[in-house]
Amino acid sequence: MATIDIAKALELAKRRGLFQGLTRYKCEGYAIEDCLQLVEGIGKQRNPHFVIDDENRFTYENFIKWLHCDSSMKAIDPNTKKVIPGDMYKGIYIAGNTGSGKSWAMEVMLAYADLFHFRVKYGGETDGRLWWRIARADEIVSRFIETTSIDEYKKIKILCIQDFGAEPLEAVAMGNRMNVLRTLLEYRGDRSDCLTLITSNIPMCHQMLVTNYDDRVASRLMEMCNYFEIKGKDRRKL
Ligand SMILES: Nc1ncnc2c1ncn2[C@@H]1O[C@H](COP(=O)(O)OP(=O)(O)OP(=O)(O)O)[C@@H](O)[C@H]1O
Ligand SMILES: [Mg+2]
Repeated sequence: MATIDIAKALELAKRRGLFQGLTRYKCEGYAIEDCLQLVEGIGKQRNPHFVIDDENRFTYENFIKWLHCDSSMKAIDPNTKKVIPGDMYKGIYIAGNTGSGKSWAMEVMLAYADLFHFRVKYGGETDGRLWWRIARADEIVSRFIETTSIDEYKKIKILCIQDFGAEPLEAVAMGNRMNVLRTLLEYRGDRSDCLTLITSNIPMCHQMLVTNYDDRVASRLMEMCNYFEIKGKDRRKL
Protein backbone atom coordinates (compact mmCIF):
# COMPACT_ATOMS: atom_id res chain seq x y z
CA MET A 1 0.00 0.00 0.00
CA ALA A 2 1.37 3.41 -0.90
CA THR A 3 2.21 5.55 2.09
CA ILE A 4 0.73 8.99 2.39
CA ASP A 5 2.83 12.05 2.96
CA ILE A 6 0.37 13.55 5.46
CA ALA A 7 2.14 16.90 5.83
CA LYS A 8 2.23 17.37 2.07
CA ALA A 9 -1.38 16.30 1.64
CA LEU A 10 -2.55 18.66 4.39
CA GLU A 11 -0.61 21.52 2.83
CA LEU A 12 -2.26 20.75 -0.50
CA ALA A 13 -5.72 20.66 1.12
CA LYS A 14 -4.99 23.99 2.78
CA ARG A 15 -3.81 25.59 -0.44
CA ARG A 16 -6.85 24.34 -2.29
CA GLY A 17 -8.95 26.02 0.37
CA LEU A 18 -11.74 23.48 0.16
CA PHE A 19 -13.06 24.26 3.62
CA GLN A 20 -13.19 27.90 2.79
CA GLY A 21 -15.50 27.24 -0.11
CA LEU A 22 -13.39 29.78 -1.91
CA THR A 23 -10.19 29.39 -3.87
CA ARG A 24 -7.87 32.25 -4.53
CA TYR A 25 -4.94 32.31 -6.92
CA LYS A 26 -1.59 33.94 -6.54
CA CYS A 27 -0.78 36.60 -9.07
CA GLU A 28 2.98 36.74 -8.77
CA GLY A 29 5.70 38.71 -10.40
CA TYR A 30 4.67 42.21 -9.46
CA ALA A 31 6.59 45.06 -7.88
CA ILE A 32 4.72 46.69 -5.04
CA GLU A 33 6.21 50.15 -5.70
CA ASP A 34 4.98 50.05 -9.31
CA CYS A 35 1.54 48.96 -8.13
CA LEU A 36 1.35 51.78 -5.60
CA GLN A 37 2.27 54.22 -8.35
CA LEU A 38 -0.45 52.75 -10.56
CA VAL A 39 -3.04 53.02 -7.77
CA GLU A 40 -2.01 56.61 -7.15
CA GLY A 41 -2.35 57.30 -10.87
CA ILE A 42 -5.86 55.84 -10.88
CA GLY A 43 -6.75 58.02 -7.87
CA LYS A 44 -5.34 61.12 -9.55
CA GLN A 45 -7.48 60.49 -12.64
CA ARG A 46 -10.41 61.07 -10.33
CA ASN A 47 -8.94 63.82 -8.17
CA PRO A 48 -5.53 65.37 -8.96
CA HIS A 49 -4.93 65.79 -5.20
CA PHE A 50 -5.13 62.04 -4.57
CA VAL A 51 -2.04 60.78 -2.74
CA ILE A 52 -0.78 57.67 -1.07
CA ASP A 53 0.93 58.97 2.05
CA ASP A 54 1.83 57.91 5.59
CA GLU A 55 -1.84 57.94 6.62
CA ASN A 56 -3.04 55.41 4.06
CA ARG A 57 0.06 53.66 2.68
CA PHE A 58 -0.30 50.58 4.91
CA THR A 59 -3.88 50.09 3.77
CA TYR A 60 -3.17 50.54 0.06
CA GLU A 61 -0.03 48.42 0.12
CA ASN A 62 -1.73 45.52 1.85
CA PHE A 63 -4.92 45.88 -0.19
CA ILE A 64 -2.72 45.40 -3.29
CA LYS A 65 -1.12 42.34 -1.68
CA TRP A 66 -4.55 40.98 -0.78
CA LEU A 67 -5.62 41.27 -4.42
CA HIS A 68 -2.44 39.63 -5.69
CA CYS A 69 -2.89 36.94 -3.02
CA ASP A 70 0.59 37.63 -1.70
CA SER A 71 1.33 35.79 1.54
CA SER A 72 3.45 38.71 2.79
CA MET A 73 0.21 40.68 3.23
CA LYS A 74 -0.25 42.27 6.65
CA ALA A 75 -3.23 43.63 8.57
CA ILE A 76 -3.83 45.18 12.00
CA ASP A 77 -5.00 43.37 15.08
CA PRO A 78 -8.14 45.35 15.99
CA ASN A 79 -7.56 44.79 19.72
CA THR A 80 -3.85 45.51 20.10
CA LYS A 81 -3.38 47.53 16.87
CA LYS A 82 -0.25 45.51 16.23
CA VAL A 83 0.68 44.40 12.72
CA ILE A 84 -0.33 40.79 12.10
CA PRO A 85 -0.31 38.48 9.07
CA GLY A 86 -3.16 39.12 6.64
CA ASP A 87 -5.58 36.44 5.48
CA MET A 88 -6.48 36.10 1.81
CA TYR A 89 -9.66 34.23 2.69
CA LYS A 90 -11.06 37.11 4.69
CA GLY A 91 -12.50 40.35 3.41
CA ILE A 92 -11.38 43.82 4.42
CA TYR A 93 -12.71 46.27 7.02
CA ILE A 94 -11.40 49.83 6.79
CA ALA A 95 -12.10 52.16 9.72
CA GLY A 96 -11.24 55.81 10.00
CA ASN A 97 -12.54 59.30 10.57
CA THR A 98 -14.94 60.91 8.18
CA GLY A 99 -13.26 62.05 4.99
CA SER A 100 -10.08 60.08 5.57
CA GLY A 101 -10.51 58.27 2.23
CA LYS A 102 -12.04 54.90 3.12
CA SER A 103 -14.76 54.84 0.48
CA TRP A 104 -12.32 55.99 -2.16
CA ALA A 105 -9.97 53.18 -1.21
CA MET A 106 -12.69 50.64 -2.08
CA GLU A 107 -13.49 52.40 -5.36
CA VAL A 108 -9.93 53.06 -6.50
CA MET A 109 -8.94 49.48 -5.68
CA LEU A 110 -11.92 48.17 -7.65
CA ALA A 111 -10.63 50.09 -10.69
CA TYR A 112 -7.20 48.59 -10.02
CA ALA A 113 -8.64 45.04 -9.71
CA ASP A 114 -10.47 45.58 -12.97
CA LEU A 115 -7.16 46.06 -14.79
CA PHE A 116 -5.67 42.79 -13.58
CA HIS A 117 -8.45 40.24 -13.95
CA PHE A 118 -7.64 38.52 -10.65
CA ARG A 119 -9.25 35.11 -10.51
CA VAL A 120 -11.25 33.53 -7.72
CA LYS A 121 -13.32 30.37 -7.44
CA TYR A 122 -16.45 30.11 -5.34
CA GLY A 123 -17.19 26.59 -4.13
CA GLY A 124 -17.59 24.18 -7.04
CA GLU A 125 -18.11 26.91 -9.62
CA THR A 126 -15.66 27.63 -12.41
CA ASP A 127 -13.14 30.42 -11.96
CA GLY A 128 -14.50 33.90 -11.99
CA ARG A 129 -13.07 37.36 -11.81
CA LEU A 130 -12.40 38.95 -8.47
CA TRP A 131 -14.73 41.89 -8.43
CA TRP A 132 -16.99 43.47 -5.84
CA ARG A 133 -20.28 45.23 -5.81
CA ILE A 134 -20.43 48.41 -3.76
CA ALA A 135 -23.53 49.36 -1.76
CA ARG A 136 -23.95 51.90 1.01
CA ALA A 137 -25.37 50.54 4.25
CA ASP A 138 -28.29 52.98 4.17
CA GLU A 139 -29.02 51.95 0.57
CA ILE A 140 -29.30 48.32 1.70
CA VAL A 141 -31.75 49.37 4.42
CA SER A 142 -33.82 51.37 1.91
CA ARG A 143 -33.90 48.40 -0.42
CA PHE A 144 -35.20 46.22 2.41
CA ILE A 145 -37.98 48.72 3.12
CA GLU A 146 -38.82 48.80 -0.58
CA THR A 147 -38.71 45.07 -1.30
CA THR A 148 -39.05 43.49 2.20
CA SER A 149 -35.98 41.40 1.37
CA ILE A 150 -32.18 41.50 1.58
CA ASP A 151 -31.69 38.32 -0.46
CA GLU A 152 -29.92 40.14 -3.29
CA TYR A 153 -27.21 41.29 -0.85
CA LYS A 154 -26.96 37.86 0.73
CA LYS A 155 -26.14 36.35 -2.65
CA ILE A 156 -23.43 38.76 -3.82
CA LYS A 157 -20.10 36.93 -3.84
CA ILE A 158 -18.03 39.93 -2.83
CA LEU A 159 -20.04 42.73 -1.32
CA CYS A 160 -18.51 46.04 -0.28
CA ILE A 161 -20.66 47.79 2.33
CA GLN A 162 -19.82 51.47 2.52
CA ASP A 163 -20.51 53.60 5.59
CA PHE A 164 -21.47 50.71 7.85
CA GLY A 165 -22.76 52.14 11.14
CA ALA A 166 -24.29 55.26 9.59
CA GLU A 167 -27.53 53.56 8.52
CA PRO A 168 -30.81 53.46 10.47
CA LEU A 169 -30.60 50.46 12.78
CA GLU A 170 -34.22 49.44 12.69
CA ALA A 171 -36.29 49.20 9.55
CA VAL A 172 -39.86 48.07 9.11
CA ALA A 173 -41.15 46.51 5.91
CA MET A 174 -44.65 45.06 5.70
CA GLY A 175 -44.77 44.90 9.49
CA ASN A 176 -41.47 43.04 9.59
CA ARG A 177 -39.02 44.85 11.88
CA MET A 178 -35.35 44.18 11.22
CA ASN A 179 -31.88 45.37 12.07
CA VAL A 180 -30.93 44.96 8.43
CA LEU A 181 -27.15 45.08 8.66
CA ARG A 182 -27.10 42.79 11.67
CA THR A 183 -29.12 40.19 9.77
CA LEU A 184 -27.03 40.55 6.63
CA LEU A 185 -23.66 40.35 8.40
CA GLU A 186 -24.74 37.41 10.52
CA TYR A 187 -25.75 35.56 7.38
CA ARG A 188 -22.63 36.41 5.39
CA GLY A 189 -20.41 35.72 8.40
CA ASP A 190 -21.63 32.14 8.53
CA ARG A 191 -20.85 31.48 4.88
CA SER A 192 -17.47 30.48 3.59
CA ASP A 193 -18.05 31.11 -0.10
CA CYS A 194 -18.33 34.88 -0.07
CA LEU A 195 -16.28 37.85 1.05
CA THR A 196 -17.36 41.08 2.66
CA LEU A 197 -15.59 44.42 2.45
CA ILE A 198 -16.62 47.20 4.79
CA THR A 199 -15.86 50.85 5.43
CA SER A 200 -16.93 52.45 8.68
CA ASN A 201 -16.31 55.27 11.12
CA ILE A 202 -16.59 52.68 13.88
CA PRO A 203 -13.34 50.90 14.72
CA MET A 204 -13.62 47.14 14.84
CA CYS A 205 -13.90 45.97 18.47
CA HIS A 206 -15.60 49.22 19.47
CA GLN A 207 -18.36 48.72 22.03
CA MET A 208 -20.76 50.44 19.64
CA LEU A 209 -20.64 47.42 17.32
CA VAL A 210 -21.77 45.17 20.16
CA THR A 211 -24.43 47.65 21.29
CA ASN A 212 -25.83 48.27 17.81
CA TYR A 213 -25.41 44.86 16.19
CA ASP A 214 -24.77 42.48 19.14
CA ASP A 215 -21.76 40.38 20.01
CA ARG A 216 -22.51 37.71 17.43
CA VAL A 217 -21.96 40.23 14.64
CA ALA A 218 -18.98 41.84 16.39
CA SER A 219 -17.26 38.49 16.67
CA ARG A 220 -18.14 37.48 13.10
CA LEU A 221 -16.64 40.70 11.78
CA MET A 222 -13.30 39.74 13.32
CA GLU A 223 -13.48 36.41 11.54
CA MET A 224 -14.69 37.87 8.28
CA CYS A 225 -12.29 40.71 7.71
CA ASN A 226 -8.70 41.84 7.69
CA TYR A 227 -8.62 45.10 9.58
CA PHE A 228 -7.13 48.42 8.46
CA GLU A 229 -7.33 51.95 9.75
CA ILE A 230 -6.82 55.03 7.62
CA LYS A 231 -5.60 57.85 9.80
CA GLY A 232 -5.65 61.56 9.31
CA LYS A 233 -7.96 64.48 8.94
CA ASP A 234 -10.97 65.03 6.75
CA ARG A 235 -9.53 65.24 3.24
CA ARG A 236 -12.72 66.95 2.10
CA LYS A 237 -11.57 70.00 4.07
CA LEU A 238 -7.95 70.07 2.86
N1 LIG B 1 -5.84 59.26 -0.94
C1 LIG B 1 -6.43 60.44 -1.06
N2 LIG B 1 -5.71 61.56 -1.28
C2 LIG B 1 -6.30 62.77 -1.41
N3 LIG B 1 -7.63 62.95 -1.33
C3 LIG B 1 -8.38 61.87 -1.11
C4 LIG B 1 -7.85 60.57 -0.97
N4 LIG B 1 -8.86 59.71 -0.75
C5 LIG B 1 -9.97 60.43 -0.75
N5 LIG B 1 -9.70 61.73 -0.97
C6 LIG B 1 -10.65 62.86 -1.00
O1 LIG B 1 -11.32 62.88 0.23
C7 LIG B 1 -12.72 62.88 0.05
C8 LIG B 1 -13.35 61.94 1.06
O2 LIG B 1 -12.99 60.60 0.77
P1 LIG B 1 -13.96 59.40 1.12
O3 LIG B 1 -15.32 59.67 0.64
O4 LIG B 1 -13.30 58.17 0.66
O5 LIG B 1 -13.92 59.48 2.71
P2 LIG B 1 -14.52 58.48 3.79
O6 LIG B 1 -13.40 58.10 4.67
O7 LIG B 1 -15.26 57.40 3.12
O8 LIG B 1 -15.51 59.43 4.60
P3 LIG B 1 -16.87 59.07 5.40
O9 LIG B 1 -16.45 58.44 6.69
O10 LIG B 1 -17.49 60.41 5.62
O11 LIG B 1 -17.67 58.16 4.53
C9 LIG B 1 -12.96 62.46 -1.39
O12 LIG B 1 -14.02 63.17 -1.92
C10 LIG B 1 -11.68 62.75 -2.08
O13 LIG B 1 -11.76 63.99 -2.76
MG1 LIG C 1 -17.31 56.79 3.12
